[in-house]
Amino acid sequence: MDHSAAVGAVRRHLDRHFDRLGEQGSARPGTDACGWVSREVHRRFLRRFVPRGARVLEIGAGAHRFTTELAARGCRVVVTDASSALLAAHQRRVRGTPAERSVLRREVLDGADVGRYADGEFDVVLAYGGPLSAVRCCAVGALRGLLRVVTPDGVVVASVLSLLGSWRHQPSALDGRETTDRRYRWSDVVQLVHAAGGELVDGSASNWASAGHPDTLAHLAADRAAWRRFVEHEVAACAEPGARDGGTHILFAARPA
Ligand SMILES: C[S@@+](CC[C@H](N)C(=O)[O-])C[C@H]1O[C@@H](n2cnc3c(N)ncnc32)[C@H](O)[C@@H]1O
Repeated sequence: MDHSAAVGAVRRHLDRHFDRLGEQGSARPGTDACGWVSREVHRRFLRRFVPRGARVLEIGAGAHRFTTELAARGCRVVVTDASSALLAAHQRRVRGTPAERSVLRREVLDGADVGRYADGEFDVVLAYGGPLSAVRCCAVGALRGLLRVVTPDGVVVASVLSLLGSWRHQPSALDGRETTDRRYRWSDVVQLVHAAGGELVDGSASNWASAGHPDTLAHLAADRAAWRRFVEHEVAACAEPGARDGGTHILFAARPA
């Protein structure tokens, strides 16, 4: 078997493996191993900071990856996104599943302007996957708004694109081209939270070890026991302060100071 046929066979095995995991309810399969790990790191971070039954404002909800996780925790969720098309897709995908009962309503919303919500209206704001990276010019004002709409002991849980991590995994990104999205160093996140009047609770990388090696990852994932061990090591590595700048995303939890 040549190399590409072998990689194809491993990928098919991997797809079946993810399908089985999805059927067991332990996780939904991602489109690839790297995406699966990203989802798992984000999911575990969410579970640390989102209390069961919380009132949640989800910013940039996209296709529903984390609405389903919030619903599994009994949360009541206002689902928002800047794109009405993505909200419509969210509705099509979630309608008819148990998660729909957790959706209070869906609203088109620019995460940089949450003026329509009252102070302390939510226990948690979840902004995963880069909405704060998309509000390039006004991230401080945007985060200040998100901190305003959580209760004094509430929490904003977010992830942003990593600047140094993207260079580490894709050295060509160093050529200085402007990207549409803002990318962050961990030190930028620290500054952002303080400038927005918040207090950092914790942080993590995503995909510290698993970005940039799709074939190695596919081989690892084909062996269930090896894969489980790898995921545990990866989640633990991502949580190390020294790893925060080395992944695809930086996750953080912040409270009003
Ligand atoms: C990479 S997707 C992440 C979706 C989901 N949170 C997840 O992690 O799977 C980023 C989402 O943010 C939304 N978005 C981009 N800019 C935004 C903004 N200024 N306000 C709110 N949502 C925004 C996009 O439409 C998209 O659905």
